[in-house]
Amino acid sequence: MFTLGCDRAYLYAHPERELTPDEMRRYDEALARRAAGTPAQYITGHQEFWGLDLIVSPAVLIPRPETEHVVEAVLELVSGIELGQKQDQDQRPRTGVSAPHEVRIVDVGTGSGAIALALAHELPAAQIFATDISAEAIEVAGINAARHDLSSHIEFRQTDLLEGLPPAWFDFVISNPPYVGESEEDSVQMEVRKFEPRNAVFAGPTGLEVIARLIPQALIALRPGGWLVLEISGTIADRVQNLLSGWREVTLRKDLQGIARVALARKPAGAESGLADPGDEACRVCAREETGRAPSLHKQARTLLAHLTAPRTECRPSCRDRRNLPIRLMGTTTAFVDC
Ligand SMILES: C[S@@+](CC[C@H](N)C(=O)[O-])C[C@H]1O[C@@H](n2cnc3c(N)ncnc32)[C@H](O)[C@@H]1O
Repeated sequence: MFTLGCDRAYLYAHPERELTPDEMRRYDEALARRAAGTPAQYITGHQEFWGLDLIVSPAVLIPRPETEHVVEAVLELVSGIELGQKQDQDQRPRTGVSAPHEVRIVDVGTGSGAIALALAHELPAAQIFATDISAEAIEVAGINAARHDLSSHIEFRQTDLLEGLPPAWFDFVISNPPYVGESEEDSVQMEVRKFEPRNAVFAGPTGLEVIARLIPQALIALRPGGWLVLEISGTIADRVQNLLSGWREVTLRKDLQGIARVALARKPAGAESGLADPGDEACRVCAREETGRAPSLHKQARTLLAHLTAPRTECRPSCRDRRNLPIRLMGTTTAFVDC
C-alpha cells in the first residue's frame, strides 16, 4: 500500500497488478529498512492517533495508543468542569460578560502534536498551547495541525517545558514527557533506542528528571484548581506520587494492561497548599481567577495592559514573570506583551 500509494481495497480488487521496476525498487528499499529495524511508521511517515492520521518523522516520538488514556482523562475532567460551569451560569444573572473562560490547555513536549491535536479536535472552543524543546518537533506538529485544519486553534512554542508561558492561567497542564531512566536503557526495545529521538524517551539517569522540573513549573502555570495530567510508567509511579505531595486529588490511573499510566493532580488553592505560588499575589489578573468571576475578554486585556504599561520598577516580583502573556481579544491572540 505504501509503495503503490493505494489502500487495502485497491490491492484486493487488483490482484493481477504487477509492480513496475521503480515500484519494485521502492518496495525492496522499504523492506530492507524494516529488516534493519526502522519502525514501519518512520518508513511510511504516518501513524494514527485518536483517529487522526499524523505525519511522523525520526524527529518525533511515534505516538502510542496508551497515550490516548491521557486524552481520555482530560476529556472526562473537562466535561466535569463544563457541567459545573453550566450549573454555575444558570444561577448567575445573565449580564452577558460573566461567562467563564474557555478551557485553557498546554501540552508540554508535544512531539508530533498528538495530544494537542486530539484535544483541539474534541474541544473546538478550548485555548490550546503546545510546547517542545525541539524545533524539528514543533515543525512536524505544525504540519499536522495544518493537515487537520487546526492551526488557528493551537499556539505552538519552542521552549523548555513551560518557560515563557503565563502564570496562573491554565486549567490543564498535560504532558507525556520523557520518563525512561538511562539506567533502564538495556530494557528498552532496540527499535526505540536506536530510532526514536533520545530526548523524547530518556529523561536522565533516573527517568524522573524532566517530571521533577515540570511539576513545580506546572504549579506556577496552573490557576488554582487546575489539573496536571501526566503520562507515566509503572516504574516511576510511586516516585511521581511522592513528588506530588502537597497537590490535591492525586490519582494514578492504570492502562489496559493494569500498569499505572496516567497521574492526575489538582493544584490547591494558595492558602491551603502552603506552597510558594506567584499566582496568589495580588495581581488583578490572578485575583480574577481566585474569585472565579472572569470579566470579558476586553476587560482582561485592558487590565493586563494597564498592569504592564506601569513603570517596570513598580512591577511586583511575580509580574516580572509575566513575559509574553498572550492578550486575547475575541478569541484570537492579537499580541504578546513584555512586562
Ligand atoms: C515522550 S515524547 C511525547 C511526544 C508526544 N506528546 C506524544 O505523546 O506522542 C516527549 C517530548 O518531549 C519533548 N521534550 C523533552 N524535553 C523537553 C523539555 N525540556 N521541554 C519541552 N519539551 C521537551 C521531546 O522533544 C518530545 O517531543
